[in-house]
Amino acid sequence: MKEVLALIKKKKREFAQLKLFQYLQDQSIDPKQRLAWAPCLAPFAMGFGQLNKYDLRKEPTNNPIQKLINKHTYEDDHHWIWFLEDIEKLGLNQSMNFSDSMKFYFGEETYKTRQVCHQIALYTFSAEPIVVLAAIEAIEATGNVALARTAQVAQELEQITKQSYRYFGQHHFCVETGHTTGTNDVEQLIERIQLTDEQTTEAFAVVEKVFEVFTEAVNEMMEYAEKHPIEE
Ligand SMILES: [Fe+2]
Repeated sequence: MKEVLALIKKKKREFAQLKLFQYLQDQSIDPKQRLAWAPCLAPFAMGFGQLNKYDLRKEPTNNPIQKLINKHTYEDDHHWIWFLEDIEKLGLNQSMNFSDSMKFYFGEETYKTRQVCHQIALYTFSAEPIVVLAAIEAIEATGNVALARTAQVAQELEQITKQSYRYFGQHHFCVETGHTTGTNDVEQLIERIQLTDEQTTEAFAVVEKVFEVFTEAVNEMMEYAEKHPIEE
């Protein structure tokens, strides 16, 4: 798995260069504006709970890697609750009628973000647990980059609003360690897993796909933030 983890490391460095992550650090912009894209995250934030609960989790299992995956899905299947809380705290929970909210959720502005969980589910649907684990490691890497940046913005906001933000803030960043289970032992264990050539090829493909879908989604959110200046 060493080569796969090395690829993830490389892709993670590239991912961190995306425009949205520079934007999030730009203190000349109102911190609320820097998070103006937050509603666009809805298909991912909500869908990710589903992906963990219904797609990645496979119970019962005797496969030790699937067991690891299952454990991880319990850590990641409920963060959408924090997301909805933060949307409210950010003042982005304006009343919108049902058909308008469906049009937003399923509209053009969130198309790429809708693809994230969908594509990951397609790519991992009949994959071996080790390949799924590679996908999860890649997902964790993207989350680690994004949450590190949003946590800085949330910290600035917290000083102004005296509210704490469980999804975009430090809380989520600390819960997501950037790896499947967070402990060093398990990381070393994963690193030492020997993959066949076929498994390596599949794992590389799934890692590339994960970064591709997240990159496109992040760029879509950047575009949205630029087009939607917040009202003071
Ligand atoms: Fe999460």
